[in-house]
Amino acid sequence: MTETVLLVGGGGREHAIARAVDTSTATETELYACASNRNPGITSLADGFETVSETDADPIVAYAEDVGATLAVIGPESALEAGVADALDEAGVYAFGPQEAEARIETDKAFQREFMDEHSIPGCPDYAVFDDAEDAADYIRKYDGDLAIKPQGLTGGKGVRVIGDQITEDEGIEYVLESDYETFVLEERLVGEEFTVQAFVADGQYRVSPAVQDHKRAYEGDEGPNTGGMGSYSDATFELPFMTESEYTDAVSIIDAVVEAMPDYKGILYGQFMLTSEGPRVVEFNARFGDPEAMNTLPVLETDFVDILVAAREGEELPDLVFSNQATVCKYAVPDGYPTDPEAGAKVQIDEESAGEALLFYASVDERDDGIYTTTSRSFAVVGLAETITSAEAIAEEALAKAGEEGLRVRHDIGKADLLQKRIDHMSEIRGD
Ligand code: AMP
Ligand code: GLY
Repeated sequence: MTETVLLVGGGGREHAIARAVDTSTATETELYACASNRNPGITSLADGFETVSETDADPIVAYAEDVGATLAVIGPESALEAGVADALDEAGVYAFGPQEAEARIETDKAFQREFMDEHSIPGCPDYAVFDDAEDAADYIRKYDGDLAIKPQGLTGGKGVRVIGDQITEDEGIEYVLESDYETFVLEERLVGEEFTVQAFVADGQYRVSPAVQDHKRAYEGDEGPNTGGMGSYSDATFELPFMTESEYTDAVSIIDAVVEAMPDYKGILYGQFMLTSEGPRVVEFNARFGDPEAMNTLPVLETDFVDILVAAREGEELPDLVFSNQATVCKYAVPDGYPTDPEAGAKVQIDEESAGEALLFYASVDERDDGIYTTTSRSFAVVGLAETITSAEAIAEEALAKAGEEGLRVRHDIGKADLLQKRIDHMSEIRGD
């Protein structure tokens, strides 16, 4: 039987998902995609494409029915929040992505912490929820220690402020008093090294992927404003160089507890952890693949991607995941000035062929008659795969050298030995070694 897959979303993450569907060999597949932007990497793999907003459930369902979709994969959280999975499920098209109610684990940060509390999910920081700015400011003044200040809803990764890291206590107070957000979650600042574990979840089962570390800060040396993520790496094992195997397993046991407490969850559950002196604690959960993290884990997934989705839809046992035991380094090229004053319109000088050994994933680019141009968001990513992080990093850099630097910026430090050592040293210091 042919599986007809509808992919929702048009970023680098979705290009990686499209590639995973395209390389599926166990099942005959057709791929259709819809998004608000035409990603040339996706359209070149897809049998059809429709321009539609990711949050507009009706036309997405209409397109799914039109192409005879048997499965849907939802990339962005905005679609989950808008109930796109609910609408597709309702129309009889199994959506690999949680329904709106379960997606609240990402879309509502107050719900996320209350849910953890109620179900005694391990790793929850001390927190409090405020819908009055004065009360929130008072809490900050009286709190003994640093706090992370989080608006309740989705902010594209740009709404969180951490006292003692990015801002002072006074700036934190000013932030809650003067921003337009209505409800804040104030929580204990977690100190350590961050990492992500993405799990495939369905029917109360889950299967995990290797840990990944993203780099949120815009500039080298972890300086500058937060971004959607400038790049990421994973190792040839499931853990990262600054982490022990049992610390990875502890993170997985937190995912286990969430899956048990949310039996209807389906799709990717993304755990963002802080490895602290007390082990992994939860920074947040996301209800979808990470961008860039999907570009690390999907290329090393040897288990057939479509087979996993079919098993999820059929309520069968999920296949055990096999990974290729390769390290990966992903680096995004972003427009000059990103994220504060991005300048669009540079011609992209690299394509999938000239990327050589590296994989190329397009993100927010504009395809014109004479080539592909940057827009104001992350442009494209290159991913190196190799036996070690260092060799994978070199492969990514070789591709970037071909792309040139005109109009683009890259964090060259991601995956380099110096930065890896800094992470390892930071963790030793935190553990008190
Ligand atoms: P989020 O928008 O929830 O992904 O948060 C953005 C970033 O803020 C995270 O990746 C962390 O670096 C930081 N962050 C969020 N919560 C905390 C916390 N409780 N302690 C320390 N850092 C945090
Ligand atoms: N890389 C962070 C995210 O996808 O939310």
